[in-house]
Amino acid sequence: MRTIFRYNRFMSNNLSKLLLNWYEKNGRDLPWRVRGGAHPDPYVVLVSELMLQQTTVKTVIPYFHRFMKRFPTIQSLAEAPLEEVYLYWQGLGYYTRARSLHTTAGIITDQFGGRFPKTRKEVLKLKGIGNYTVASFLALAFNRPETVIDGNVTRIICRLYNLTDPINEITDLIHQKAEALTDRKHSADYASAIMDLGAVICTPKKPRCLLCPWQDFCLSKGRENLENIPFRKKTNKKEKNGFVYLVFNDKNEIFIRKRTEKGLLSGLYEFPWSEEKLFAEATNTGLEVSHIFTHIKLSLHICKLSVNTFPGSGKFIPIQELSSYPFSTLMKKVYQKFSANLVP
Ligand code: ADE
Repeated sequence: MRTIFRYNRFMSNNLSKLLLNWYEKNGRDLPWRVRGGAHPDPYVVLVSELMLQQTTVKTVIPYFHRFMKRFPTIQSLAEAPLEEVYLYWQGLGYYTRARSLHTTAGIITDQFGGRFPKTRKEVLKLKGIGNYTVASFLALAFNRPETVIDGNVTRIICRLYNLTDPINEITDLIHQKAEALTDRKHSADYASAIMDLGAVICTPKKPRCLLCPWQDFCLSKGRENLENIPFRKKTNKKEKNGFVYLVFNDKNEIFIRKRTEKGLLSGLYEFPWSEEKLFAEATNTGLEVSHIFTHIKLSLHICKLSVNTFPGSGKFIPIQELSSYPFSTLMKKVYQKFSANLVP
């Protein structure tokens, strides 16, 4: 029979020690990471944390290396044109992060004299940094006693305490439990350790409970359907459909335009598209691409149009130059699908 433990401060200290010991032996070597209380470069933490918002470690690693090679310091990033930053972000998605990082580099160099802010109040003056990233930045860069709560941590806490209610109804409880567990003296290592626990052991599917340093204390260990903890109520993604136009002039150049500065994918280039069919004379190629954004699934029918002028701002460019412009993943998919099925 399982003993029911009372999770007091003493227990929390023990749990965090067990986790830190586990991390010392089993933590992942990641390119932005330093271990054992060493001081990382806050710029490295900032770049990696922004890249890691919504994107997996595996995907981020090559982007991180390329980005740091081209923009090795906060000054070099601040001085670079935004469009070039987008090029290095191309494929990572969620491009507002790239714009925020660039703006933040400007704020740090111009308003903070190149010094990285170390308090919550100051960090919140930067761009694109919400509650999660403030905590992860301050904990990882300066070992400030902050609690990092992302999807991994939420899953671990819900399983450890067998919290089975929908997570949006128990966020305060999850925060309270996560804060109580945090090792406030070693918050940088603790934050990395709990992220690793979620990534390697307490995984969404098939968790490796027998390797978990918290297995003796976990109230849901051995339960069937551990995949259902945490419990998320399903929200249906909205579906949208539209038409995207690959517009060629008689020099076989293709028309591209830059999205305006606000909203989804702003600042990136695109082929003209619309939810309504705009050009009766366009040929529908029968090809279609879909992409899932945070709240919507967008599917576009690919149409081909031959004209020498196109309304609105934008320009015709030789096809070989497409790779010099930053495009969203969706628009890349459009061109890839089109060129793989070359329509005469
Ligand atoms: N996810 C978010 N931040 C991370 C980090 N620093 N290391 C690994 N995974 C992360």
